[in-house]
Amino acid sequence: MRLSRYFLPVLKETPSEAQIASHRLMLRAGMIKQATAGIYSWLPLGFKVLRKLENIVHEEQVRAGHVPMLMPTLQSADLWRESGRYDDYGAEMLRITDRHGRDMLYGPTNEELITDIFRAHVGSYKDLPLTLYHIQWKFRDEVRPRFGVMRGREFFMKDGYNFDLTKEDALHAYNRHMVSYLRTYERMGLQAIPMRADSGPIGGDDTHEFLVLAETGESEVFYDSVITDLKLGERVVDYDSRAECEAIVTEWTTPYARTDETHDKATFNAIPEDRRRSSRGIEVGQIFYFGTKYSEPMGATVQGPDGKPVPVHMGSHGIGVSRLVGAIIEASHDEKGIIWPEGVTPFHAGIVNLKQGDSEADAACEALYASLTALGLEPLYDDRDERAGGKFATMDLIGLPWRITVGPRGLKNGVVELTSRRTGESEELPPEAAVEKLAQIYAGHVLRPAF
Ligand SMILES: Nc1ncnc2c1ncn2[C@@H]1O[C@H](COP(=O)(O)OP(=O)(O)OP(=O)(O)O)[C@@H](O)[C@H]1O
Ligand SMILES: [Mg+2]
Repeated sequence: MRLSRYFLPVLKETPSEAQIASHRLMLRAGMIKQATAGIYSWLPLGFKVLRKLENIVHEEQVRAGHVPMLMPTLQSADLWRESGRYDDYGAEMLRITDRHGRDMLYGPTNEELITDIFRAHVGSYKDLPLTLYHIQWKFRDEVRPRFGVMRGREFFMKDGYNFDLTKEDALHAYNRHMVSYLRTYERMGLQAIPMRADSGPIGGDDTHEFLVLAETGESEVFYDSVITDLKLGERVVDYDSRAECEAIVTEWTTPYARTDETHDKATFNAIPEDRRRSSRGIEVGQIFYFGTKYSEPMGATVQGPDGKPVPVHMGSHGIGVSRLVGAIIEASHDEKGIIWPEGVTPFHAGIVNLKQGDSEADAACEALYASLTALGLEPLYDDRDERAGGKFATMDLIGLPWRITVGPRGLKNGVVELTSRRTGESEELPPEAAVEKLAQIYAGHVLRPAF
């Protein structure tokens, strides 16, 4: 992409309505524009990051054996009356009446709709296990939408639902979700800690929330510092292996880690003092096992091996995809702007032409652009006729992890400058070597989607 042809409405002024860094930076970097309270348009740069996160979520869900689909945003109230949640859900649910006077709602979550699909099409235990998921917009009429996309009213969420014959099978699904979520967050350059949580209106006994540590997080968290050393890294996981999934879950859930809702002082104080940590966290996901809470009232049964109908054991599992954009920025920025992790960056590298119109500089930039593109990388080329200072400030603000600076002086010596946004360190090297270095840096990353 050439900046002269892009739509990147960066703001010079710090917007006064934004209280936290990620909200400020998303507005300043031209990623989002508020449409109305808690509802945002995703401008091209923001949309690109959102798509990258969505793509990672899909890849990790499919890898875990879960099946993607798409359910609508609007639902009929009747299904929610069946489960008993229509009245329970309260003012957070946006209720709509259609022209025929039928009660509808904008889905805040999809347990009822998926259970209805399941009961219509699945009849035998032989069709289990099954986990279906989708990534779709949700609406919750939050009392206080704030912090930009972190607590919106309309937000983008991955929600998945497992259907199993027995509790043991459903707990394996729970474990599979935990492992796939850990992988998902790691690929996004984030550390999200699973913490035992309260189940709230979804209901159920077993539930963990995933929290990214950040001062601006809304949850108070308490944990044993050893948990922050855990990493999945390059481990290959066999998601069909109960033992393997369970071992990883045990590894991550043995050290103490809880939110204020489930915090237990006595257990916490038993941890050696130098490992006790309390701070704040952003909830970026949650998994639940809730047994037959929906399958019983809604009649989602399968014929068991003995021919008798059995209500299926279910769980639901969510990732806050749009909130994650903000969470990543909270975890990775400085006073100049955003610093994208390589796995989610909207463009892989910026090319800054210090002397637009200089035939050699222009040609060198074009050549770099072509070589990077040929490798499947996406450069953002600042080809505007602007001062270098302004170009650098824009690149720093939008946070591409790598910048190649091209100017007539360097080109005389056959070099360009490659700068890391994270460390600020620069090195001079021939253009081909810069391309080669970027190819190596991004070798382990999935580059698509390219829009
Ligand atoms: N209003 C919101 N804006 C953006 N993301 C949200 C919002 N509400 C929930 N999410 C995201 O969706 C994920 C799954 O939804 P879940 O039902 O667990 O939310 P929740 O526990 O009600 O969230 P919270 O406690 O933050 O209100 C959450 O972990 C969070 O990342
Ligand atoms: Mg939650």
